[in-house]
Amino acid sequence: MVSGYPSVRPRRLRASGKLSSLARETLLDPSKFIMPYFVRHGKGVKEKIPTMPGQFRYSTDELLKELKRVASLGIGGVILFGIPEVKDELASEAYSENGIIQKTLRALKDSYPEILVITDVCLCDYMSHGHCGIVDENGVVKNDETLEFLAKIALSYAKAGSDIIAPSDMMDGRVKKIRQALDDEGYENMPIMSYSSKYASSFYGPFRDAADCFPKFGDRKSYQMDPGNSDEAILETGLDLDEGADIIMVKPALSYLDVIYRIKQAFKRPLAAYNVSGEYSMIKAASMLGYINEETAVIEMLTSIKRAGADIIISYYSLFAAKILNNRRQA
Ligand code: PBG
Repeated sequence: MVSGYPSVRPRRLRASGKLSSLARETLLDPSKFIMPYFVRHGKGVKEKIPTMPGQFRYSTDELLKELKRVASLGIGGVILFGIPEVKDELASEAYSENGIIQKTLRALKDSYPEILVITDVCLCDYMSHGHCGIVDENGVVKNDETLEFLAKIALSYAKAGSDIIAPSDMMDGRVKKIRQALDDEGYENMPIMSYSSKYASSFYGPFRDAADCFPKFGDRKSYQMDPGNSDEAILETGLDLDEGADIIMVKPALSYLDVIYRIKQAFKRPLAAYNVSGEYSMIKAASMLGYINEETAVIEMLTSIKRAGADIIISYYSLFAAKILNNRRQA
């Protein structure tokens, strides 16, 4: 018996279908979802991503068509990942005025000024070796040299029309460096959403297939976090907030619900959770095999992320879930 509430019978609330939604503590809302998109060069391209059935690499014109759905479903925003023409050792296309993200941002802002666009700032998609930073002759990622490049990319995205800058590289001191670069150029009001606790996770596998950014040597354990740690997530998040992060993040989401909870309790700041590619593909694969009900599983999964404390959910299931929620509302 719960002390102080001897006569409470929770089952009574559950027993009435009508009451159950009144009593529900956690409600999902499409305006809190962020949909990730992969953009590539070309025209009329909508290329399937084999490890993420239902997700595509879009050329800019095809992405613009797709965004009609984002606008009509009331999705909170999109986050863009670019696939460059050429990958090199200086990630040149990431900060080129005619890079894929810069071109797409300009086109998108022309057609859909109302859609909130977040840009992921990292080097890995643009690097021939697939690492998130500048690498020395021994294959070691050089933290401080990388910061200059991240600031350059962030500024370039800001100029092309990004609404939020989201560094995902996990170099130390990047938020401070990016904040400084933005402020110096008059972008004092550009928010930074920092991937503040990003774990070295197996669940990024399908993303690396989509963006072709598997590291060609070594792994990302020198800059991404050990899945066994959660005190470290508090430390990393605190540092990013001190450096000027406006929105913080836990990534991945599902295996890290406890981290989401701890971070929300500790900081009470706008918190995003990234429901990553592997989490999407697991549910997709199981549902394609008929092992699981996709609709109910997706809503349950997203609800658990929200219940743990996430304010914003980045998910490849954003449109799918928004459709379900909007239909329920109309029913
Ligand atoms: C780039 C980046 C990655 C993801 C988002 N930004 C890949 C990685 O760190 O290997 C993963 C997202 C996903 O799996 O959906 N640094």
